[in-house]
Amino acid sequence: MLKNDRLDQWDRESFFHPSTHLAQHARGESPNRIMTGGSGIYVEDRDGTKLLDGFAGLYCVNVGYGRQEIAEAIAEQAKELAYYHSYVGHGTEASITLAKMVMDRAPKGMSKVYFGLGGSDANETNVKLVWYYNNILARPEKKKIISRWRGYHGSGLVTGSLTGLELFHKKFDLPLDRVHHTTAPYYFRRPDLALSEADFTAHCVAELEGLIEREGPETIAAFIGEPVLGTGGLVPPPVGYWEAIQAVLRRHDILLIADEVVTGFGRLGSMFGSGHYGIKPDFITIAKGLTSAYAPLSGSIVSDRVWKVLEQGTDENGPIGHGWTYSAHPIGAAAGVANLKLIDEMGLVKNAGETGGYLNTAMRAAIGDHPHVGDIRGEGMMCAVEFVQDKTDRVFFEASEKVGARVTGAVLERGVIGRAMPQGDILGFAPPLCLTRSEADKIVAATKAAVETVLPRP
Ligand SMILES: Cc1ncc(COP(=O)(O)O)c(C=O)c1O
Repeated sequence: MLKNDRLDQWDRESFFHPSTHLAQHARGESPNRIMTGGSGIYVEDRDGTKLLDGFAGLYCVNVGYGRQEIAEAIAEQAKELAYYHSYVGHGTEASITLAKMVMDRAPKGMSKVYFGLGGSDANETNVKLVWYYNNILARPEKKKIISRWRGYHGSGLVTGSLTGLELFHKKFDLPLDRVHHTTAPYYFRRPDLALSEADFTAHCVAELEGLIEREGPETIAAFIGEPVLGTGGLVPPPVGYWEAIQAVLRRHDILLIADEVVTGFGRLGSMFGSGHYGIKPDFITIAKGLTSAYAPLSGSIVSDRVWKVLEQGTDENGPIGHGWTYSAHPIGAAAGVANLKLIDEMGLVKNAGETGGYLNTAMRAAIGDHPHVGDIRGEGMMCAVEFVQDKTDRVFFEASEKVGARVTGAVLERGVIGRAMPQGDILGFAPPLCLTRSEADKIVAATKAAVETVLPRP
């Protein structure tokens, strides 16, 4: 419990919160929730209310809260050597060990990992390296990046441009002009209900081919995508998608960035989404699950093919002009080492597949027949419920009705945290990977009760 009764006031007066309605918050019109503790999959707020965190923070606390092994590793590192930089060949036992552990787990064909702080800066690094790569290969015109509508890749200048969600562009003068978006691989929102999944994959591929032809393949440097769309709606790809997309990219010599900030280190029931879907990337973005958010750390894993060109670049031009003060921060690295060990010891990758599958099946059994539940989908420890006004004709609710947010609020009233995904009426769950079946049952029961209350059956 908190002793300071002025936190409310200080929060409204001083704290600029991300992704928040700033005016309402400052005026005290929207609730603030001050969190004080966590254990396993539960978090506690200042009133002592215990909530089942069905979204693992922002799908990042993969090992669950309160893991002493990670807390102790962080404390030890802080006492021994809180900081040293990693420029010009410097490292620490933690950062070098973590690099080795990441590469031991990475898919075949990957060479080295560069450490940053968060997913956005890791993607920023990837884009810079893509540009550097093509400059070294004497193709200065090959610089454009293709992303997907509804992709999420961060909220910086380039990464906010890559993100394919309107909220992240509007009034920020984004996207920047080297970034282009193609169709979201979102079968439930296919343009024509008559399309089969395979037809829809062919449609996405044709859209990509069209974009490449219009822009000129010689100008397109890379394609970025999450193995499973995350913030855009928790959407697994349609059948055959990644295989078909990669064939197009190979034909036009376009690099592939697999953004595994959410899917890396087990969320899909495989160590990486790349392995899960047969993706052979040139870059893999990692963050969240790397430390389970016990400390900020991200990474850009580069392939052998890219690494060779980066080496050539420094032989020709001298040291690479890229780095952050906090790259490979020892405290983040120590957290990462302890976290990856824990993931292995607790068998969390396997559990994500098994218990995540159970969660999805149980959700379908509980509310699949509800007239306003249009789609229930997921992969591994991800599950989304999408609401519609009319199921047969797939008519969506008006955004102003805020159905997704209302159901999510009703789930919270029942002690479970879900996430109203930002675009559409979608309730998302991505719990810690240590979820048990009985905890999955609690998520399903809260969801069923919330749906039946907010959207009563006729
Ligand atoms: C797939 C993906 N990439 C990148 C990011 C950006 O990471 P960060 O918020 O750590 O900058 C996120 C964040 O949710 C993400 O889901």
